[in-house]
This record gives sequence, structure tokens and C-alpha cells, in this order.
Amino acid sequence: MARPTKRILVTGATGQIGSELVPELRKRYGGENVVVGGHKRPPSADLAETGPFETVEVTKRDTIEAVVKKYGIDTIYHMVAIMSATGEKNPQHAWDVNINGTYNIFEIARENGIRVFHPSSIAVFGPETPRENTPQETVLKPRTIYGITKVAGEQLGEYYVRKFGVDIRGVRYPGIISNKTLPGGGTTDYAVEIFYEAIKNKRYTCFLRDDSTLPMMYMPDCINATLQLMDADASGLKHHTDFNLAAISFSPKELAAEIKKHIPEFTISYKPDERQKIADSWPKTIDDSAARKEWGWKPKYNLAEMTKDMLEVLGKKLRPA
Ligand code: SER
Repeated sequence: MARPTKRILVTGATGQIGSELVPELRKRYGGENVVVGGHKRPPSADLAETGPFETVEVTKRDTIEAVVKKYGIDTIYHMVAIMSATGEKNPQHAWDVNINGTYNIFEIARENGIRVFHPSSIAVFGPETPRENTPQETVLKPRTIYGITKVAGEQLGEYYVRKFGVDIRGVRYPGIISNKTLPGGGTTDYAVEIFYEAIKNKRYTCFLRDDSTLPMMYMPDCINATLQLMDADASGLKHHTDFNLAAISFSPKELAAEIKKHIPEFTISYKPDERQKIADSWPKTIDDSAARKEWGWKPKYNLAEMTKDMLEVLGKKLRPA
């Protein structure tokens, strides 16, 4: 049995998901027990004011070890990663962070009996994967360096579970839509940018084709899934590091139509760039029945609810009264 969670380190804590995961973890476990780990981006005021921040560079093992020792860390949410589009610009750096960084985390977890959440992605899939209702067990032949490192991370994690009994868990996140911190360099980022542009300029030029359907998820569902999997009883889990996870699938055209219901003047145009090729290699819809069965996953937000909430929250943020 794993020790109960008391002291947490979140790597990549200032990123898109980390910056919303940390406040939830701090609510649950107390601000002082959740360490924000980062090194490039300084923490936002609310992260800085509600608990500790430490410089953690996952490629430098000693920076992780120092924090683990100082705080008696028992759980790591390893959120840092170089995403799909950025990874293609510097594959060597993506390999270093995503592979060597993750190896350091897993090794430190093995040595110290630490539980780990290690997210994977729809980027593990490739053109040979069935694109509709993509099964849990399927072809994993990604074409991006990001996808390749995520397949390796899933496999290495599963190996550590079986070989060393380390408690490592993870889901294949779809594109995550959020309104607090911008995503960094992914192929699904258009689905966040579009909201900012719709509110500010009433128009958006999309870097994907109008019919590029991709699996997506609103941040509250993403946070729930993450915490729910980490809370799940280990005895119920047949999978560990590679759960398919789904909520909503839509194309840019469908999202634009939904936004138009709230902002009738909104217009969209399309100028596909190199990210189109990546999108074309990923699934449209995902079968997440293993997650539903093994740990009770169920999303809350559909396209209409997500769009309404995004526009409300961002509207207040970008047009303060
Ligand atoms: N949002 C990610 C990306 O586009 C997918 O996991 O790279």
C-alpha cells in the first residue's frame, strides 16, 4: 500500500495545467504541503503567495532530489513536458526534457517510495491508429517527437509499476481548454486562442483546417480526472500509465459556430500551417471505457457548456468592469 499523500511536488507547476492543479491540491492538502516546481516561468502571484516555490529543472536530477529531501515529498505530479508543436522545432530538447526528465522523476520515485502522476497524450497515436473511437489497446506509432517521448514515458512507467512496484499513474490527455494560463506550443492550442481572439477582436485565423476534429476537454474535467485517478484504489486498476481519456470532440468549424451563438459578429478564417500535419495524424474521437470502468471517469462539460463558461470567465478577465 502506498503511503497517504501528505507532501506534493508539482513539476511544470506554472504551466497550463499545473497552474490550475496546484490551487486544487493546496485546497485539499494545505498550501505549505504543495511545492510549486519550475524554473523558466516565475510563479503567478497566487501560486507564489499560497505556498512554497522551488527551482526544479527536471533534467538536473539534483534539483529534484533537493526538493524531495527538503519537504519529505511523497507524491509528484510530473506535469512538465515539451509539447507537440514546440517539440518539432527542437526535437533534441524535447527528448531531453520529456525522456531524461521523466527518467529522473521515476528513479527518484523508486528510491524514495514516491507516487507519481505522469500525464500522457493523444499524441501517442499516429496515422496507422484507428481515428474514430480509438481503442485503449491500439497501434502506437506517433510521428512527433512529443508523441514518441510520451509512448516511452507510458511504457517506462508501466515497467516501473510491474518491476519495482512504484505507483505511477497517467492518462492520455486530449487538448485542454482553459482560461487561466495559456497552453504552450501544442497542436490543440487553437481551441484556447480562439476564445481570446473572439472576445478581443471578434475574429480569428485558425492554424488548422475547418474540419480538423480533435479530442478536447475543459480544464475542470481535466483536474477532476487527474485527482480522481490518483485517488482510485490501486487494486481496481488494470492499466496504470496509459488511460484513454475523453470528453468532447469537435472541429474548428463546430467550435466557431458555438462561439457565434454568443458573439454573432464573430468570424473565422483558416490558414493551416505545419501543425495541420500533426492534427491529421491524431484521432478524432477516443474510447475511454477503461477509465470509466476502472476508476469511474465521467466528464461534466459538453461543447455548449464549455463554450459558455469560457466566454463568461474570459469576458470578465479581458474586459474588466
Ligand atoms: N495539447 C497537446 C498538444 O497539442 C496534446 O496533448 O501537443
